[in-house]
Amino acid sequence: MGQQNTPNFAARNSGRESQQRSQDALDIKGLDRAHHFHPFTDPQALVQAPPFVMEKGEGCYVMGQGMRLLDAMAGLGSVNIGYGRTEMAETAMKAMENLSFYHSFAAITNPAAAELAAKIAELAPKHMNKVFFANSGSEANETALKLVNMYWRRRGLPNKRLIISRDFAYHGSTMAVSALNGLDAMHKPFGVPVDGAVVHVQAPFWYRFGGTSTPEDFGLAAARTIESAILEAGAANVAAFVAEPIQGTLGAIIPPMTYWPEVERICKKHNVLLVADEVVTGMGRTGAFFAQETFGFEADIMTLAKGLSSSYQPISAVVMSDKIAATLEGKSAVLQHGFTTSGHPVTAAVALKNIEIIEREGLVSRIANDIGPYFASKLATLERLDLVGEVRCSGLMAGIELAKNKETRTQYPIEFGLCQHVAQACLARGLIVRPAGNILIMCPPFIITHTEIDYLIEILDDALQAVTELLRKAEA
Ligand SMILES: Cc1ncc(COP(=O)(O)O)c(C=O)c1O
Repeated sequence: MGQQNTPNFAARNSGRESQQRSQDALDIKGLDRAHHFHPFTDPQALVQAPPFVMEKGEGCYVMGQGMRLLDAMAGLGSVNIGYGRTEMAETAMKAMENLSFYHSFAAITNPAAAELAAKIAELAPKHMNKVFFANSGSEANETALKLVNMYWRRRGLPNKRLIISRDFAYHGSTMAVSALNGLDAMHKPFGVPVDGAVVHVQAPFWYRFGGTSTPEDFGLAAARTIESAILEAGAANVAAFVAEPIQGTLGAIIPPMTYWPEVERICKKHNVLLVADEVVTGMGRTGAFFAQETFGFEADIMTLAKGLSSSYQPISAVVMSDKIAATLEGKSAVLQHGFTTSGHPVTAAVALKNIEIIEREGLVSRIANDIGPYFASKLATLERLDLVGEVRCSGLMAGIELAKNKETRTQYPIEFGLCQHVAQACLARGLIVRPAGNILIMCPPFIITHTEIDYLIEILDDALQAVTELLRKAEA
Protein backbone atom coordinates (compact mmCIF):
# COMPACT_ATOMS: atom_id res chain seq x y z
CA MET A 1 0.00 0.00 0.00
CA GLY A 2 2.99 2.10 -0.76
CA GLN A 3 3.27 5.56 0.59
CA GLN A 4 0.11 5.65 2.67
CA ASN A 5 -0.66 4.40 6.12
CA THR A 6 -4.10 2.94 6.63
CA PRO A 7 -5.08 4.04 10.12
CA ASN A 8 -8.87 3.69 10.10
CA PHE A 9 -8.91 0.49 8.17
CA ALA A 10 -7.23 -1.63 10.83
CA ALA A 11 -9.44 -0.31 13.61
CA ARG A 12 -12.64 -0.77 11.58
CA ASN A 13 -12.01 -4.42 10.95
CA SER A 14 -10.70 -5.51 14.33
CA GLY A 15 -14.19 -6.69 15.34
CA ARG A 16 -13.98 -9.47 12.76
CA GLU A 17 -10.80 -11.01 14.04
CA SER A 18 -10.69 -13.99 16.28
CA GLN A 19 -9.29 -13.25 19.71
CA GLN A 20 -6.08 -15.17 19.09
CA ARG A 21 -5.52 -13.50 15.75
CA SER A 22 -6.03 -10.04 17.19
CA GLN A 23 -3.66 -10.81 20.04
CA ASP A 24 -1.03 -12.02 17.56
CA ALA A 25 -1.62 -8.99 15.39
CA LEU A 26 -1.27 -6.67 18.39
CA ASP A 27 2.04 -8.31 19.31
CA ILE A 28 3.26 -7.95 15.74
CA LYS A 29 2.13 -4.34 15.59
CA GLY A 30 3.93 -3.60 18.84
CA LEU A 31 7.15 -5.21 17.64
CA ASP A 32 6.85 -3.48 14.31
CA ARG A 33 6.24 -0.05 15.79
CA ALA A 34 9.18 -0.46 18.10
CA HIS A 35 11.72 -1.75 15.62
CA HIS A 36 10.71 -1.63 11.96
CA PHE A 37 11.73 1.49 10.02
CA HIS A 38 9.42 1.31 7.00
CA PRO A 39 10.13 2.27 3.40
CA PHE A 40 7.86 4.95 1.89
CA THR A 41 5.97 5.47 5.16
CA ASP A 42 5.53 8.50 7.40
CA PRO A 43 6.90 7.33 10.78
CA GLN A 44 4.80 9.95 12.59
CA ALA A 45 1.64 8.51 11.08
CA LEU A 46 2.71 5.09 12.37
CA VAL A 47 2.79 6.57 15.86
CA GLN A 48 -0.84 7.65 15.44
CA ALA A 49 -2.06 4.39 13.93
CA PRO A 50 -0.58 0.90 13.81
CA PRO A 51 0.66 -0.78 10.63
CA PHE A 52 -1.62 -3.15 8.76
CA VAL A 53 -0.47 -6.75 9.13
CA MET A 54 -0.65 -8.72 5.89
CA GLU A 55 -0.65 -12.46 6.51
CA LYS A 56 -1.38 -14.53 3.41
CA GLY A 57 -1.77 -14.39 -0.34
CA GLU A 58 -3.70 -16.64 -2.70
CA GLY A 59 -4.34 -16.05 -6.40
CA CYS A 60 -5.36 -12.40 -6.81
CA TYR A 61 -6.19 -11.96 -3.11
CA VAL A 62 -4.26 -11.05 0.02
CA MET A 63 -5.48 -11.66 3.53
CA GLY A 64 -4.76 -9.76 6.73
CA GLN A 65 -6.54 -8.75 9.91
CA GLY A 66 -9.55 -10.86 8.99
CA MET A 67 -9.94 -9.18 5.59
CA ARG A 68 -9.73 -10.76 2.14
CA LEU A 69 -8.68 -8.10 -0.35
CA LEU A 70 -8.64 -8.25 -4.14
CA ASP A 71 -5.16 -6.93 -4.91
CA ALA A 72 -5.53 -4.78 -8.02
CA MET A 73 -1.89 -3.72 -7.50
CA ALA A 74 -0.36 -7.24 -7.53
CA GLY A 75 1.77 -6.19 -4.57
CA LEU A 76 3.69 -3.35 -6.16
CA GLY A 77 2.91 -4.17 -9.79
CA SER A 78 4.90 -7.34 -9.49
CA VAL A 79 3.05 -10.51 -8.45
CA ASN A 80 2.09 -11.23 -12.02
CA ILE A 81 1.37 -14.96 -11.69
CA GLY A 82 -0.62 -14.41 -8.49
CA TYR A 83 0.12 -15.36 -4.90
CA GLY A 84 0.79 -18.69 -3.27
CA ARG A 85 1.78 -21.00 -6.12
CA THR A 86 2.94 -24.34 -4.68
CA GLU A 87 5.05 -24.97 -7.79
CA MET A 88 7.10 -21.87 -7.00
CA ALA A 89 7.63 -22.90 -3.38
CA GLU A 90 8.71 -26.39 -4.47
CA THR A 91 11.14 -24.92 -6.98
CA ALA A 92 12.70 -22.71 -4.30
CA MET A 93 12.91 -25.61 -1.88
CA LYS A 94 14.62 -27.93 -4.37
CA ALA A 95 17.03 -25.20 -5.45
CA MET A 96 17.91 -24.44 -1.82
CA GLU A 97 18.50 -28.08 -1.02
CA ASN A 98 20.70 -28.45 -4.07
CA LEU A 99 22.85 -25.30 -3.90
CA SER A 100 21.56 -22.76 -1.40
CA PHE A 101 24.06 -20.19 -2.65
CA TYR A 102 27.09 -19.66 -4.72
CA HIS A 103 28.31 -16.41 -6.23
CA SER A 104 28.95 -15.46 -9.85
CA PHE A 105 32.19 -13.54 -9.32
CA ALA A 106 35.47 -14.56 -10.92
CA ALA A 107 33.97 -16.55 -13.82
CA ILE A 108 31.82 -18.91 -11.74
CA THR A 109 28.26 -19.70 -12.73
CA ASN A 110 25.44 -22.08 -11.82
CA PRO A 111 22.96 -23.82 -14.15
CA ALA A 112 19.94 -21.70 -13.15
CA ALA A 113 21.75 -18.37 -13.69
CA ALA A 114 23.07 -19.46 -17.09
CA GLU A 115 19.66 -20.80 -18.17
CA LEU A 116 17.86 -17.68 -16.97
CA ALA A 117 20.26 -15.39 -18.84
CA ALA A 118 19.67 -17.46 -22.00
CA LYS A 119 15.90 -17.42 -21.49
CA ILE A 120 15.83 -13.65 -21.07
CA ALA A 121 17.95 -13.28 -24.22
CA GLU A 122 15.52 -15.55 -26.09
CA LEU A 123 12.50 -13.46 -25.03
CA ALA A 124 14.15 -10.04 -25.37
CA PRO A 125 14.25 -8.01 -28.59
CA LYS A 126 16.68 -9.84 -30.87
CA HIS A 127 19.46 -7.24 -30.59
CA MET A 128 19.70 -7.85 -26.81
CA ASN A 129 21.60 -10.95 -25.75
CA LYS A 130 23.64 -10.23 -22.62
CA VAL A 131 22.28 -10.15 -19.09
CA PHE A 132 23.69 -8.89 -15.77
CA PHE A 133 21.87 -9.94 -12.57
CA ALA A 134 21.12 -7.84 -9.49
CA ASN A 135 18.51 -7.93 -6.74
CA SER A 136 16.18 -4.95 -7.14
CA GLY A 137 14.99 -2.51 -9.77
CA SER A 138 17.08 0.21 -8.14
CA GLU A 139 20.23 -1.93 -8.35
CA ALA A 140 19.52 -2.76 -11.98
CA ASN A 141 19.12 0.93 -12.84
CA GLU A 142 22.18 1.87 -10.77
CA THR A 143 24.13 -0.78 -12.71
CA ALA A 144 22.78 0.54 -16.02
CA LEU A 145 24.02 4.05 -15.14
CA LYS A 146 27.50 2.74 -14.34
CA LEU A 147 27.61 0.66 -17.52
CA VAL A 148 26.55 3.69 -19.58
CA ASN A 149 29.47 5.67 -18.15
CA MET A 150 31.84 2.79 -18.71
CA TYR A 151 30.63 2.43 -22.29
CA TRP A 152 31.40 6.07 -23.15
CA ARG A 153 34.80 5.89 -21.46
CA ARG A 154 35.65 2.80 -23.48
CA ARG A 155 34.50 4.62 -26.61
CA GLY A 156 36.87 7.46 -25.80
CA LEU A 157 34.07 9.93 -24.94
CA PRO A 158 34.40 10.36 -21.15
CA ASN A 159 32.62 13.72 -21.20
CA LYS A 160 29.36 12.02 -22.08
CA ARG A 161 28.04 11.81 -18.50
CA LEU A 162 24.81 13.83 -18.34
CA ILE A 163 21.63 11.76 -18.03
CA ILE A 164 18.28 12.97 -19.31
CA SER A 165 15.27 11.83 -17.28
CA ARG A 166 11.71 13.13 -17.02
CA ASP A 167 9.22 14.75 -14.69
CA PHE A 168 7.06 12.05 -13.04
CA ALA A 169 9.85 9.46 -13.46
CA TYR A 170 10.45 6.78 -10.85
CA HIS A 171 13.52 4.59 -11.16
CA GLY A 172 14.27 3.54 -7.58
CA SER A 173 15.85 4.60 -4.33
CA THR A 174 19.63 4.20 -4.48
CA MET A 175 21.70 7.39 -4.56
CA ALA A 176 22.46 7.89 -8.25
CA VAL A 177 19.12 6.48 -9.34
CA SER A 178 17.19 8.79 -6.97
CA ALA A 179 18.54 11.72 -8.94
CA LEU A 180 16.60 10.44 -11.96
CA ASN A 181 13.28 10.56 -10.13
CA GLY A 182 10.97 13.32 -11.23
CA LEU A 183 9.92 14.45 -7.78
CA ASP A 184 11.92 16.83 -5.59
CA ALA A 185 10.75 15.01 -2.46
CA MET A 186 12.87 12.07 -3.57
CA HIS A 187 16.08 14.13 -3.85
CA LYS A 188 15.99 16.99 -1.41
CA PRO A 189 15.63 15.25 1.98
CA PHE A 190 18.70 13.13 1.18
CA GLY A 191 20.87 15.77 -0.44
CA VAL A 192 20.98 13.71 -3.63
CA PRO A 193 23.17 15.54 -6.17
CA VAL A 194 21.02 16.24 -9.21
CA ASP A 195 22.38 19.47 -10.71
CA GLY A 196 24.97 18.81 -13.35
CA ALA A 197 24.20 15.06 -13.30
CA VAL A 198 20.60 14.83 -14.48
CA VAL A 199 18.27 17.03 -16.51
CA HIS A 200 14.53 16.42 -16.30
CA VAL A 201 12.36 17.00 -19.35
CA GLN A 202 8.63 16.97 -20.12
CA ALA A 203 6.71 13.76 -19.44
CA PRO A 204 4.48 12.64 -22.33
CA PHE A 205 1.47 13.33 -20.13
CA TRP A 206 -1.15 14.48 -22.61
CA TYR A 207 -4.11 14.66 -20.21
CA ARG A 208 -2.36 17.17 -17.93
CA PHE A 209 -0.11 19.06 -20.33
CA GLY A 210 -1.43 18.43 -23.84
CA GLY A 211 -3.58 21.59 -23.94
CA THR A 212 -5.36 21.83 -27.27
CA SER A 213 -2.92 19.64 -29.21
CA THR A 214 -3.80 16.14 -30.36
CA PRO A 215 -2.17 13.26 -28.45
CA GLU A 216 -0.12 12.50 -31.58
CA ASP A 217 1.26 16.04 -31.87
CA PHE A 218 1.84 16.22 -28.15
CA GLY A 219 3.76 12.90 -28.22
CA LEU A 220 6.13 14.37 -30.80
CA ALA A 221 6.46 17.66 -28.91
CA ALA A 222 7.23 15.85 -25.63
CA ALA A 223 9.91 13.74 -27.37
CA ARG A 224 11.44 16.89 -28.82
CA THR A 225 12.01 18.32 -25.33
CA ILE A 226 14.71 15.63 -25.13
CA GLU A 227 16.32 16.99 -28.26
CA SER A 228 16.23 20.52 -26.83
CA ALA A 229 17.92 19.28 -23.64
CA ILE A 230 20.59 17.50 -25.71
CA LEU A 231 21.25 20.61 -27.77
CA GLU A 232 21.40 22.81 -24.70
CA ALA A 233 23.91 20.59 -22.89
CA GLY A 234 25.78 19.67 -26.08
CA ALA A 235 25.50 16.10 -27.39
CA ALA A 236 29.17 15.60 -26.50
CA ASN A 237 28.15 15.77 -22.83
CA VAL A 238 25.00 13.65 -22.88
CA ALA A 239 25.34 9.96 -22.03
CA ALA A 240 21.81 8.58 -22.03
CA PHE A 241 18.09 9.11 -21.88
CA VAL A 242 16.60 6.87 -19.18
CA ALA A 243 12.85 6.29 -19.08
CA GLU A 244 9.99 3.96 -18.23
CA PRO A 245 8.00 3.05 -21.37
CA ILE A 246 4.89 3.79 -19.28
CA GLN A 247 5.54 5.95 -16.23
CA GLY A 248 4.06 3.75 -13.54
CA THR A 249 4.60 4.80 -9.94
CA LEU A 250 3.80 8.47 -10.42
CA GLY A 251 0.77 8.13 -12.62
CA ALA A 252 0.36 5.26 -15.12
CA ILE A 253 1.22 7.80 -17.80
CA ILE A 254 0.75 6.08 -21.16
CA PRO A 255 2.52 8.03 -23.90
CA PRO A 256 0.91 8.73 -27.26
CA MET A 257 2.07 6.18 -29.87
CA THR A 258 4.09 8.88 -31.66
CA TYR A 259 6.34 9.39 -28.64
CA TRP A 260 8.74 6.43 -28.49
CA PRO A 261 9.72 6.14 -32.17
CA GLU A 262 10.58 9.86 -32.09
CA VAL A 263 12.60 9.40 -28.88
CA GLU A 264 14.55 6.58 -30.53
CA ARG A 265 15.20 8.71 -33.62
CA ILE A 266 16.46 11.63 -31.51
CA CYS A 267 18.74 9.44 -29.36
CA LYS A 268 20.26 7.79 -32.45
CA LYS A 269 20.72 11.12 -34.21
CA HIS A 270 22.65 12.62 -31.27
CA ASN A 271 24.55 9.48 -30.25
CA VAL A 272 22.77 9.26 -26.89
CA LEU A 273 22.07 5.84 -25.36
CA LEU A 274 18.47 4.85 -24.75
CA VAL A 275 17.85 3.01 -21.47
CA ALA A 276 14.36 1.55 -21.04
CA ASP A 277 13.40 0.92 -17.43
CA GLU A 278 11.05 -2.03 -17.92
CA VAL A 279 10.95 -2.89 -14.22
CA VAL A 280 7.14 -2.68 -14.28
CA THR A 281 6.31 -2.96 -17.98
CA GLY A 282 8.69 -5.85 -18.68
CA MET A 283 7.67 -9.53 -18.58
CA GLY A 284 4.27 -9.07 -20.17
CA ARG A 285 2.28 -6.34 -18.44
CA THR A 286 1.43 -4.40 -21.62
CA GLY A 287 0.44 -7.52 -23.58
CA ALA A 288 3.90 -8.09 -25.08
CA PHE A 289 6.87 -9.46 -23.18
CA PHE A 290 8.48 -6.01 -23.32
CA ALA A 291 6.86 -2.60 -23.79
CA GLN A 292 9.48 -1.85 -26.46
CA GLU A 293 7.35 -4.12 -28.68
CA THR A 294 4.12 -2.42 -27.62
CA PHE A 295 5.43 1.06 -28.44
CA GLY A 296 7.70 0.13 -31.37
CA PHE A 297 11.22 1.10 -30.33
CA GLU A 298 14.56 -0.51 -29.52
CA ALA A 299 16.56 0.41 -26.43
CA ASP A 300 20.31 -0.01 -25.94
CA ILE A 301 19.81 -1.26 -22.39
CA MET A 302 16.71 -2.41 -20.54
CA THR A 303 16.23 -3.15 -16.89
CA LEU A 304 13.89 -5.78 -15.45
CA ALA A 305 12.89 -6.67 -11.89
CA LYS A 306 9.48 -7.16 -10.27
CA GLY A 307 7.76 -9.43 -12.82
CA LEU A 308 10.96 -11.37 -13.53
CA SER A 309 10.15 -13.57 -10.53
CA SER A 310 6.65 -12.20 -9.83
CA SER A 311 8.37 -10.98 -6.63
CA TYR A 312 8.55 -14.54 -5.25
CA GLN A 313 12.25 -13.76 -4.75
CA PRO A 314 14.20 -10.51 -5.19
CA ILE A 315 15.93 -10.52 -8.57
CA SER A 316 16.57 -7.99 -11.31
CA ALA A 317 18.43 -7.87 -14.60
CA VAL A 318 20.20 -5.45 -16.90
CA VAL A 319 19.79 -6.58 -20.50
CA MET A 320 22.26 -5.17 -23.01
CA SER A 321 22.25 -4.76 -26.76
CA ASP A 322 24.97 -6.47 -28.76
CA LYS A 323 26.48 -3.03 -29.43
CA ILE A 324 26.86 -2.27 -25.72
CA ALA A 325 28.07 -5.78 -24.88
CA ALA A 326 30.69 -5.70 -27.64
CA THR A 327 32.22 -2.53 -26.16
CA LEU A 328 32.01 -3.62 -22.52
CA GLU A 329 33.45 -7.05 -23.27
CA GLY A 330 35.86 -5.90 -25.92
CA LYS A 331 38.76 -5.18 -23.60
CA SER A 332 40.45 -7.35 -20.98
CA ALA A 333 39.65 -5.75 -17.60
CA VAL A 334 37.78 -7.09 -14.56
CA LEU A 335 34.29 -5.59 -14.20
CA GLN A 336 34.66 -3.97 -10.79
CA HIS A 337 30.95 -4.10 -10.09
CA GLY A 338 28.49 -6.71 -8.82
CA PHE A 339 26.53 -7.97 -5.85
CA THR A 340 27.09 -10.97 -3.58
CA THR A 341 23.76 -12.41 -4.69
CA SER A 342 24.01 -11.54 -8.44
CA GLY A 343 22.83 -14.67 -10.28
CA HIS A 344 21.76 -16.39 -7.04
CA PRO A 345 20.95 -20.02 -7.88
CA VAL A 346 17.69 -20.04 -5.91
CA THR A 347 16.29 -16.73 -7.18
CA ALA A 348 17.32 -17.63 -10.73
CA ALA A 349 15.51 -20.99 -10.48
CA VAL A 350 12.42 -19.23 -9.14
CA ALA A 351 12.52 -16.67 -11.98
CA LEU A 352 12.85 -19.48 -14.54
CA LYS A 353 9.80 -21.22 -13.07
CA ASN A 354 7.89 -17.93 -13.14
CA ILE A 355 8.65 -17.54 -16.86
CA GLU A 356 7.71 -21.18 -17.48
CA ILE A 357 4.31 -20.55 -15.85
CA ILE A 358 3.75 -17.33 -17.83
CA GLU A 359 4.50 -19.17 -21.09
CA ARG A 360 2.65 -22.39 -20.22
CA GLU A 361 -0.51 -20.51 -19.28
CA GLY A 362 -0.24 -18.10 -22.23
CA LEU A 363 -0.58 -15.16 -19.83
CA VAL A 364 0.97 -12.53 -22.11
CA SER A 365 -1.21 -13.25 -25.15
CA ARG A 366 -4.19 -13.45 -22.78
CA ILE A 367 -3.42 -9.85 -21.77
CA ALA A 368 -3.17 -8.76 -25.41
CA ASN A 369 -6.24 -10.54 -26.69
CA ASP A 370 -8.62 -11.11 -23.85
CA ILE A 371 -8.22 -9.81 -20.32
CA GLY A 372 -6.45 -6.56 -21.22
CA PRO A 373 -9.19 -5.36 -23.62
CA TYR A 374 -11.84 -6.57 -21.16
CA PHE A 375 -10.22 -4.58 -18.32
CA ALA A 376 -10.03 -1.48 -20.55
CA SER A 377 -13.67 -1.77 -21.59
CA LYS A 378 -14.90 -2.17 -18.02
CA LEU A 379 -12.72 0.70 -16.79
CA ALA A 380 -14.14 2.92 -19.52
CA THR A 381 -17.59 2.61 -17.90
CA LEU A 382 -16.23 4.73 -15.02
CA GLU A 383 -15.74 7.71 -17.31
CA ARG A 384 -19.44 8.54 -16.88
CA LEU A 385 -18.74 9.50 -13.22
CA ASP A 386 -18.26 13.17 -12.33
CA LEU A 387 -15.06 12.48 -10.43
CA VAL A 388 -13.34 10.62 -13.28
CA GLY A 389 -11.44 12.87 -15.68
CA GLU A 390 -9.73 10.18 -17.71
CA VAL A 391 -9.22 6.44 -17.68
CA ARG A 392 -6.10 5.08 -19.37
CA CYS A 393 -5.06 1.49 -19.78
CA SER A 394 -2.36 -0.50 -21.56
CA GLY A 395 -2.61 -4.26 -21.11
CA LEU A 396 -3.06 -4.68 -17.37
CA MET A 397 -1.65 -1.31 -16.34
CA ALA A 398 -4.20 1.40 -15.66
CA GLY A 399 -4.60 4.87 -14.24
CA ILE A 400 -7.71 6.84 -13.34
CA GLU A 401 -7.40 10.64 -13.22
CA LEU A 402 -9.64 12.15 -10.59
CA ALA A 403 -10.92 15.58 -11.58
CA LYS A 404 -12.69 18.41 -9.80
CA ASN A 405 -14.05 19.59 -13.12
CA LYS A 406 -13.98 17.18 -16.05
CA GLU A 407 -14.41 19.86 -18.70
CA THR A 408 -11.56 22.10 -17.55
CA ARG A 409 -9.51 19.15 -16.21
CA THR A 410 -8.97 21.00 -12.93
CA GLN A 411 -7.87 18.90 -9.99
CA TYR A 412 -8.43 18.97 -6.28
CA PRO A 413 -5.33 20.22 -4.43
CA ILE A 414 -3.04 17.26 -3.62
CA GLU A 415 -3.18 18.18 0.10
CA PHE A 416 -6.89 17.44 -0.06
CA GLY A 417 -5.98 13.75 -0.26
CA LEU A 418 -8.87 12.85 -2.55
CA CYS A 419 -7.13 9.82 -4.00
CA GLN A 420 -6.34 8.52 -0.52
CA HIS A 421 -10.02 8.85 0.38
CA VAL A 422 -11.02 6.83 -2.67
CA ALA A 423 -8.32 4.22 -1.99
CA GLN A 424 -9.54 3.96 1.62
CA ALA A 425 -13.13 3.58 0.43
CA CYS A 426 -11.97 0.78 -1.91
CA LEU A 427 -10.04 -0.89 0.90
CA ALA A 428 -13.04 -0.83 3.20
CA ARG A 429 -14.95 -2.61 0.43
CA GLY A 430 -12.23 -5.23 -0.13
CA LEU A 431 -10.07 -3.82 -2.94
CA ILE A 432 -6.47 -2.56 -3.04
CA VAL A 433 -5.67 0.24 -5.49
CA ARG A 434 -2.75 2.65 -5.25
CA PRO A 435 -3.16 6.41 -4.86
CA ALA A 436 -0.58 8.67 -6.51
CA GLY A 437 -1.35 12.37 -6.37
CA ASN A 438 -4.75 12.59 -8.05
CA ILE A 439 -4.34 9.33 -9.92
CA LEU A 440 -5.49 5.85 -8.91
CA ILE A 441 -3.14 3.19 -10.20
CA MET A 442 -3.85 -0.46 -10.89
CA CYS A 443 -1.61 -3.31 -12.09
CA PRO A 444 -3.58 -6.48 -11.32
CA PRO A 445 -2.07 -9.98 -11.52
CA PHE A 446 -2.04 -11.49 -15.04
CA ILE A 447 -4.31 -14.31 -13.86
CA ILE A 448 -7.20 -12.01 -12.91
CA THR A 449 -10.50 -13.43 -14.22
CA HIS A 450 -13.40 -11.67 -15.92
CA THR A 451 -15.48 -12.16 -12.76
CA GLU A 452 -12.74 -10.63 -10.62
CA ILE A 453 -12.55 -7.64 -12.96
CA ASP A 454 -16.33 -7.21 -12.71
CA TYR A 455 -15.97 -7.28 -8.92
CA LEU A 456 -13.06 -4.80 -9.02
CA ILE A 457 -15.05 -2.35 -11.17
CA GLU A 458 -18.16 -2.74 -9.01
CA ILE A 459 -16.15 -1.79 -5.90
CA LEU A 460 -14.36 1.09 -7.63
CA ASP A 461 -17.63 2.46 -9.00
CA ASP A 462 -19.27 2.27 -5.59
CA ALA A 463 -16.25 3.81 -3.80
CA LEU A 464 -16.03 6.67 -6.32
CA GLN A 465 -19.75 7.37 -5.94
CA ALA A 466 -19.54 7.26 -2.15
CA VAL A 467 -16.65 9.76 -2.11
CA THR A 468 -18.49 11.99 -4.62
CA GLU A 469 -21.46 12.02 -2.27
CA LEU A 470 -19.24 12.99 0.68
CA LEU A 471 -17.70 15.79 -1.41
CA ARG A 472 -21.16 17.08 -2.35
CA LYS A 473 -22.19 17.18 1.30
CA ALA A 474 -18.95 18.88 2.32
CA GLU A 475 -19.27 21.47 -0.44
CA ALA A 476 -23.00 22.14 0.16
C1 LIG B 1 9.88 1.72 -13.14
C2 LIG B 1 10.55 1.34 -11.86
N1 LIG B 1 11.89 1.28 -11.84
C3 LIG B 1 12.57 0.95 -10.74
C4 LIG B 1 11.90 0.68 -9.56
C5 LIG B 1 12.68 0.34 -8.33
O1 LIG B 1 12.58 -1.02 -8.07
P1 LIG B 1 12.97 -1.57 -6.61
O2 LIG B 1 11.91 -1.05 -5.68
O3 LIG B 1 12.93 -3.06 -6.80
O4 LIG B 1 14.32 -1.07 -6.30
C6 LIG B 1 10.49 0.72 -9.54
C7 LIG B 1 9.76 0.42 -8.31
O5 LIG B 1 8.59 0.64 -8.17
C8 LIG B 1 9.82 1.08 -10.71
O6 LIG B 1 8.48 1.18 -10.74
